[in-house]
Amino acid sequence: MKIISSINEMASFVKDAKSKAKSIGLVPTMGYLHQGHLSLIKEARAVTDMVVVSIFVNPTQFEPGEDYASYPRDMKRDALEAEKAGADVIFAPRAEQMYPESYSTYVKVEGLSEVLCGRNRPGHFRGVTTVCAKLFSIVKPDIAFFGQKDAQQSVIIQKMVKDLNMDIKLKVLPTVREGDGLAMSSRNKYLSSKQRKDALVLHKALDQAKSVIEAGENDVSKIKERMRNIINKVDSKIDYISIVDPDSLKDVSIISGRVLIALAIWIGRARLIDNIIVTRNQ
Ligand code: PAF
Repeated sequence: MKIISSINEMASFVKDAKSKAKSIGLVPTMGYLHQGHLSLIKEARAVTDMVVVSIFVNPTQFEPGEDYASYPRDMKRDALEAEKAGADVIFAPRAEQMYPESYSTYVKVEGLSEVLCGRNRPGHFRGVTTVCAKLFSIVKPDIAFFGQKDAQQSVIIQKMVKDLNMDIKLKVLPTVREGDGLAMSSRNKYLSSKQRKDALVLHKALDQAKSVIEAGENDVSKIKERMRNIINKVDSKIDYISIVDPDSLKDVSIISGRVLIALAIWIGRARLIDNIIVTRNQ
């Protein structure tokens, strides 16, 4: 496996792969790889010829005062894990190369970027779409792989790809969970052992929502109330609990058909997100 940090070197690797008619799979990550990332790399290995894993803690998607500086990083371990999972290349550019001083171009998907996680993180998705547009343009993947845990991110990137006529397929794979249900996240590292137990309320609240919907409840305010009650049992702060249309991300008040139930909860210094898609049969 190669580790490439220069954009030019990455571009010539891509040119060479394309000249040999090899398909390219890209798994964009910010590193500190966990089983969720590894499931994306394994899928990329299974369906594309060349697997590129980007590892870049992207400064433009962090709000001022967020954890950009302290975001967990471990390139040595990441390289071992990515190689075992089937990566051919790690692309790990330096921030100064991705965003030189003269940098001034940003991509923003309007409408979808301001809701859910975007409400309290107004610049976050603009940073995500900008870096993904850059990565897509450098790596020129046939398929890019994302996790369902970041459901809103996938919807937004899909819209960017469509609106900008990018010739890239996205594949969104299921959230990978610990044995007790906690969604895998690099930020789980911030949790103390007590907070790690408390963090199970995210999964429990989603599970509860699914059960009550399946039992016939369709009133979103009542479902959210049940979810809040579970979350408020532990030392936590609710950023949002939302029940929305999975494509438009617009709030629904009465459930009929498919909905995305998404939440973001602070447990200590960790802001954790999770979601499920539930279908209510009429
Ligand atoms: O999901 C992530 O880790 C990041 O938002 C991404 C897609 C790698 C862009 O920096």
